[in-house]
Amino acid sequence: MSRSGGAIGWGKVILLGEHAVVYGYPALVGALDRGVTAAALPTPAGGALRLDVPGWQLAVHASTRPDADPPARALAAIADSLGIGRPAVTIVAETQLPPGAGLGSSAALAVACARALAAFASVPASPAVIAEAAGAAERVFHGTPSGIDVAVALAGGLGVFRKASGLRAIATPSLRVLVGPPADATGAGVVPASRSTKEMVDRVADATRGDPDDARLRELGGLTDHGAAALLARDLAKLGAAMDRAHATLSALGVSTVRLDQLCAVARAAGAYGAKLTGGGGGGAVIAVAPADREAAVLAAWRSCGVTGFVAEVNR
Ligand code: MEV
Repeated sequence: MSRSGGAIGWGKVILLGEHAVVYGYPALVGALDRGVTAAALPTPAGGALRLDVPGWQLAVHASTRPDADPPARALAAIADSLGIGRPAVTIVAETQLPPGAGLGSSAALAVACARALAAFASVPASPAVIAEAAGAAERVFHGTPSGIDVAVALAGGLGVFRKASGLRAIATPSLRVLVGPPADATGAGVVPASRSTKEMVDRVADATRGDPDDARLRELGGLTDHGAAALLARDLAKLGAAMDRAHATLSALGVSTVRLDQLCAVARAAGAYGAKLTGGGGGGAVIAVAPADREAAVLAAWRSCGVTGFVAEVNR
């Protein structure tokens, strides 16, 4: 066994379709131009499998104990899925994503760890094997996720995801997306997945009584189709309008906050084509698509609200 390096999992933005995707509707999702990288190294002192994420001040040993921290159980789930036992290995992960911001940090970490461990242990790392291992970790954090975060963390790119058929890439040039993470998203001391995703999924289940035919879920699914068509036609104004509508519908389902509504409103006022929450909601990041000459104004508007945003090249 030898050192493995450069294993990556991509962060993501859901442009359209979060929450509805859990009920089988399509979602438009793109990989960020950043994520989590991991390397697996033998632990000189021996001992159990461990994970260090200095940027998140996270250090855990793999454990299946029900009372162990979720990252410890997620690490054990990855190792068990790969069938490698508990080697005396330390995975060191570097992250460019804030945790718990709806940007797919936990799936990116899980994919990077699964790739690094599989390479270290010489397990053939087919996409299906890595997806299964990362999916096991995601279930520790999120209960029964749709799989969208793992799919894009693994494949990168930009495409339409459905639970039934997975991620289908769409052929489009890269898209510049403005991302406004929550102001306190430094990462320090935060577990790499907010439990709020599960809470928000439960909230939508309450609001819709779990009925996949709920009109708001159907609308979100339809907006994904409109948005994907607009993106293919490079009609960013239409894409933005679909994003605005999706934000309103997600708000009606109870997963927005006053703060997220405010950040979307100032982005639109600064000239964005459209803006919305991204991911589970209940906090986390907002995203916007804007004409090139309005990007700086949108970022300045967010800054005046205390948010340091960035421009991501999706599908670079
Ligand atoms: C989380 O990134 C997206 C949600 O739709 C949950 C899921 O799909 O598992 C909120």
